[in-house]
Amino acid sequence: MNWVSELAGFVSVETGEAVRARHGGDVSGHDAVWPDVVAMPESAVQVAAVLAWANERELPVTPWGAGTSVEGNPIPVRGGISLSLERMNRVKEIRLEDRLAVVEAGTKYRELNRQLAGSGWQFAVEIGGDATIGGMIANNAAGPKAVKYGSTKAHVLGLEVALADGRLIRTGGRTWKQSCGYNLTQLFVGSEGTLGVITEAIVKLTPTPAVREVVVARFASVREAVRCVGAMRALDAGAIEFLDRSYMSFLGEEAADTLFCEFHTEGHGRAAEAIFLAGGATEVSRAGETLWAARLRAYTASQEANPGARLLTTDTAVPVGAFAEMVEFLQAELARRELTGYLLGHAGDGNLHVILPWRGEGEWGAVEGFHRAAVRKSLELGGTASGEHGVGMGKREFVATEHGEEAVAVMRGIKAMLDPRGILNPGKVLPERIVTNANEL
Ligand code: LAC
Ligand code: ZN
Repeated sequence: MNWVSELAGFVSVETGEAVRARHGGDVSGHDAVWPDVVAMPESAVQVAAVLAWANERELPVTPWGAGTSVEGNPIPVRGGISLSLERMNRVKEIRLEDRLAVVEAGTKYRELNRQLAGSGWQFAVEIGGDATIGGMIANNAAGPKAVKYGSTKAHVLGLEVALADGRLIRTGGRTWKQSCGYNLTQLFVGSEGTLGVITEAIVKLTPTPAVREVVVARFASVREAVRCVGAMRALDAGAIEFLDRSYMSFLGEEAADTLFCEFHTEGHGRAAEAIFLAGGATEVSRAGETLWAARLRAYTASQEANPGARLLTTDTAVPVGAFAEMVEFLQAELARRELTGYLLGHAGDGNLHVILPWRGEGEWGAVEGFHRAAVRKSLELGGTASGEHGVGMGKREFVATEHGEEAVAVMRGIKAMLDPRGILNPGKVLPERIVTNANEL
């Protein structure tokens, strides 16, 4: 293609099959779509130049971090350019006295933490995938520790963002307090590359806990397990994870509804044990390290256990008080629809995943039906369709149901202002079909 060689005149590009294939998909079950070309910029100025150029030609540009997203977020559904941030992976500054780090968007969060090792400080969001910080911000990723530290959005002080027309702007700054102007930083958090391309981030650093006590409690019922969640939050737990009995047996563990908690204050593990026993736990143990590793690998393990299958992952989050009802509803729906689904979640945040393997069109209909039912129930309970995975490709139709048509119109207005030609990650986030009545999902 003629335009590819023109693009190659000012930025590194890859057109080989292996590279295009890698940038055509993520770890979700969504169909891969290969980009025509993968651009590998090495600076924010190059990112901005690619955007300005693509905007002139109305070529789609889909940012790509590490491909660890589970909702098709970086799949270039209209082809065009996959804008890979892989080469922009430098930790530019670590400023312990200011409790912040400045990183290029393609920096993996684990790499930042590796560079921080021994300093007593960390980037506190921990997730299963080896994701880039830019991708985590674009998606507002969260994971098990969010119950204590908050989602990624709570860790971003400022951004550098390349806009569709090639302007490069800075949002926020280096202070932990900011109250000057509209909060553009948070507009880009969770925007999934549809409003601009994040090129650099100023992120908060959090003290690494000196103490780590892990407690695993097994229960005879979801209700009993969930009744203890409030008390765990009161102990300022660093994680309150729930794994249902079927997921535990999938892990080769005893089939019991299980709560898995981490504490960062001496003695809180012991206090939790007592609360669990009084709350009806059938077994309480401190042997949590293996389970913790297995928990972080849950998604990968589900894929490995079902070779050749695709995965649909629900990501509902409900107000914490409705968590038990949500879990029981989903268990009953799985049974009624005779579906296999791994049920696990971040109980302290009311955030629950059902990972459903499916093969072929016939099974797709069934898992999609389950997904809609899960979202309907979540919205009915005052919850959301997505707690941490983003909208991507698979949750677009829920956006208007959750937020209403007027709010979606405001979102479209913002999109039109920042990306009038619709080149940025087309086919994501904003719904094609407006469904405001959950019963019509
Ligand atoms: C997890 C991912 C799927 O919690 O969000 O393992
Ligand atoms: Zn999760």
